Amino acid sequence: MVGADSLQLAGMQARLLAWFAAEARDLPWRRTRDPYRILVSEVMLQQTQVDRVVPKYESFIERFPTVQALAEAPTAEVIRFWAGLGYNRRAVNLQRAARDVLDRHGGVFPRDVAALAALPGIGPYTAGAVACFAFEQDVAFMDTNIRRVLRRALADPAIEPGDAELLALARAAVPPGQGWAWNQGVMELGALICTADAPACWRCPIRDTCRDYAVRRAADELLATQSPVSRRRIAERRERPFAGSSRYFRGRIVAALRTLPPGAALTLAELGPQVRPEYAGDDEGWLVALIEGLVRDGLLLFDGGVVRLPE
Ligand code: ADE
Repeated sequence: MVGADSLQLAGMQARLLAWFAAEARDLPWRRTRDPYRILVSEVMLQQTQVDRVVPKYESFIERFPTVQALAEAPTAEVIRFWAGLGYNRRAVNLQRAARDVLDRHGGVFPRDVAALAALPGIGPYTAGAVACFAFEQDVAFMDTNIRRVLRRALADPAIEPGDAELLALARAAVPPGQGWAWNQGVMELGALICTADAPACWRCPIRDTCRDYAVRRAADELLATQSPVSRRRIAERRERPFAGSSRYFRGRIVAALRTLPPGAALTLAELGPQVRPEYAGDDEGWLVALIEGLVRDGLLLFDGGVVRLPE
């Protein structure tokens, strides 16, 4: 069908692709089509900002340049290399996926989304991203940036679309033969312009066809009158410490063990005060519960009353 909608979509695709070609950041994972490197970058980028990922990605790839190098490394070393990225479970899952590629696929990454999604710890997003960014397949997948951009650009602003609906919109929007640049471009737009809190619609390449633009413009005008307040609110939200949460203490436990020489272990009494300065004997149940969670995630070994990183 060639109607107003498909002409509008074609215009939007052309403008977004042109903008991406001119404005895209030069990021190391955009210079490769190696599925292993793409996978490493996508796992790192899941919960960590691009600026923090770039140096960690480069040192990780230098130390573990191939899927085989990662699969064969001691898990403790992979966890040590993950320092600074947070959510350490991702490091263990990444290595599990690498070991699976080696053991079940002869060291060669599968190419199709279903087989990629069958690798341990790889969800639909990461499977789609590897199929697209390594194998240049015209597939659609969702992360927060893509979901936000496509919802604003393509969905009816009056209706909150469900995931299935958005995925259908996303599939229809991929320009044939250009999936790589399109999906990178949508992500880039979400990261640089179509942000969650303050979309910069005035410099958006696709605002003329964006269904949410009129609504956004009204909201932006309102925000402009309040910008010092909203800016302070955003800054406060960023600075709010997560100290006190179990995620924080899990990170402290792994950080304490990471500084030890390979194979070394700590008793609960040695570990406790490093995790929480006011640690006392009756905190042991709390500490053990955190440790057991980390053991379930494959990040720690807890045996004979001592805790260590897995080798
Ligand atoms: N976030 C997730 N994947 C990304 C990519 N390929 N480029 C930039 N940011 C991303």
